Amino acid sequence: MHIVITGGAGFLGRQLAKTLLDKTSLTTSDAIEVQKLTLFDVVPPQNMPPDPRVEIVTGDIRDPQVLATLITSDVDLIFHLAAVVSGEAEANFELGLQVNLAATQNLLEQCRQLNTRPRLVFTSSVAVFGGDMPAVLQDDTTPTPQSSYGTQKAVGELLVNDYSRRGFIDGRAVRLPTIVVRPGRPNKATSTFASSIIREPLQGQPAVCPVSPEMALWIMSPRQAVKSLIHAAALPAETWGSSRVASLPGLTVSVREMVDQLKTIAGQVVVERIVWQPDPFIERIVGSWPIRFATPKAEALGFEADQSIDEIIRAFIEEELGGRFVA
Ligand SMILES: NC(=O)c1ccc[n+]([C@@H]2O[C@H](COP(=O)([O-])OP(=O)(O)OC[C@H]3O[C@@H](n4cnc5c(N)ncnc54)[C@H](O)[C@@H]3O)[C@@H](O)[C@H]2O)c1
Repeated sequence: MHIVITGGAGFLGRQLAKTLLDKTSLTTSDAIEVQKLTLFDVVPPQNMPPDPRVEIVTGDIRDPQVLATLITSDVDLIFHLAAVVSGEAEANFELGLQVNLAATQNLLEQCRQLNTRPRLVFTSSVAVFGGDMPAVLQDDTTPTPQSSYGTQKAVGELLVNDYSRRGFIDGRAVRLPTIVVRPGRPNKATSTFASSIIREPLQGQPAVCPVSPEMALWIMSPRQAVKSLIHAAALPAETWGSSRVASLPGLTVSVREMVDQLKTIAGQVVVERIVWQPDPFIERIVGSWPIRFATPKAEALGFEADQSIDEIIRAFIEEELGGRFVA
């Protein structure tokens, strides 16, 4: 199988690539056999172990010529992850529109021109919901995004659905919860604090929390997210029914619960490194996102949630910090 990951140098792109290449990984699927893996991004991915199956392609997804060279008839599966994240798409409307929407449409158009019906996994987000919502969102709740990012993802979902219905692609759009704990440095996602308040204190550094402890999020671990993307790709087309979209199962966790659990695992000194500094812009955007979902469709399709925030924090310490933290 020739697989392309757009956004292949990003956080999830790199983790997905490493998992796909690791035959022993518990999160890979027999249905996905990698013969060639193309990692596409504006920058080359850092820290990718050398592998003869990997090809690194740099370019701007906004350029249709780049897409024409990237998506050729030998491509079987595309993970379309390249995106401008939520805070940046809100701050720069045109950039978000071009990368998150126009480039997604151009990518789908390129697939259509091929006549090979490649499989495509689109990473949507819970940010497609917002405003007046039921207390628990259902599979059939209408998207009502309250950010440009959420709107661009909602349109992307519709396009993936229609291109699939027309037989131009075999698409799947998964609404990812907020991914916690994201390794590395803070990014321009408005939810970046949810990882920072765990990641930085564990490494002896301060972290700013721009929301109140009562703010809750719908979250998923990186490991579960990668597993879900591979599962989405492996599912037979007919299992999706009339909609190629699924909200993934997650955990509802308040900032207070995250901090309390961090304290239980790492101690009082570690949580004292969190600086509480409310930011109305971030509170408004993140506060517009839903925090509770019923996900019967995804569960019937075999997608799973993490067990607990305790398990997520402990996995981060084991997998990313080598089992050690700065007490
Ligand atoms: N991480 C989360 O919490 C989360 C939640 C919901 C949805 N998502 C979605 O999952 C996907 C991956 O998220 P991530 O956290 O890995 O984000 P990320 O920012 O780490 O990765 C996105 C990648 O897209 C690339 N990119 C941006 N503009 C580009 C362009 N013009 N041309 C080519 N590449 C470009 C970036 O360089 C980056 O490497 C995104 O589509 C995101 O919207 C993520």
